[in-house]
Amino acid sequence: MDIEYREFETKCETYGYINENVEKIIAETDDVCAVLANISALLKMELRDTNWAGFYLMKGGVLILGPFQGKPAVVRIEPGSGVCGTAVAENRAQIVEDVHKCTNHIACDAASSSEIVVPIYAAGELFGVIDIDSPSTGMFDGEDLTGLTETARLVGSFIERTGR
Ligand code: SME
Repeated sequence: MDIEYREFETKCETYGYINENVEKIIAETDDVCAVLANISALLKMELRDTNWAGFYLMKGGVLILGPFQGKPAVVRIEPGSGVCGTAVAENRAQIVEDVHKCTNHIACDAASSSEIVVPIYAAGELFGVIDIDSPSTGMFDGEDLTGLTETARLVGSFIERTGR
């Protein structure tokens, strides 16, 4: 893969570039681990001020750590637990402006201050979540949600096509 780092003025342009490259990554192989590993590298490379970017995947009713970039993280998250488990329990994306004020947050990297978690659906079922952490407070907003929802949609259709 030859995906270069590029800097953009707006989040909208950044996610345009990210999702254009997600499509290229998906087109290259049917291997789920390889695809998710490259997407987490792309997200970590392109999203300004992030210290963790990756995936948790639903396995046997719990979230299990998937490919990511950042510090080693908690392996197993029950639905309802932490920000990721809340996304599962409530079946919707979560944006946490300040994780230090969030009582239901699992700290993996003490540097994290804000977080976004976006569910990925494949064939109508929850496949997993995209999780991004930032060391800055209030880093994530509706533009991140829009951009990452498109990333999640692309991953979901890839999973539908290849199976898991
Ligand atoms: N903070 C997450 C746990 C995973 S780490 O951010 C990588 C949570 O509360 O679910």
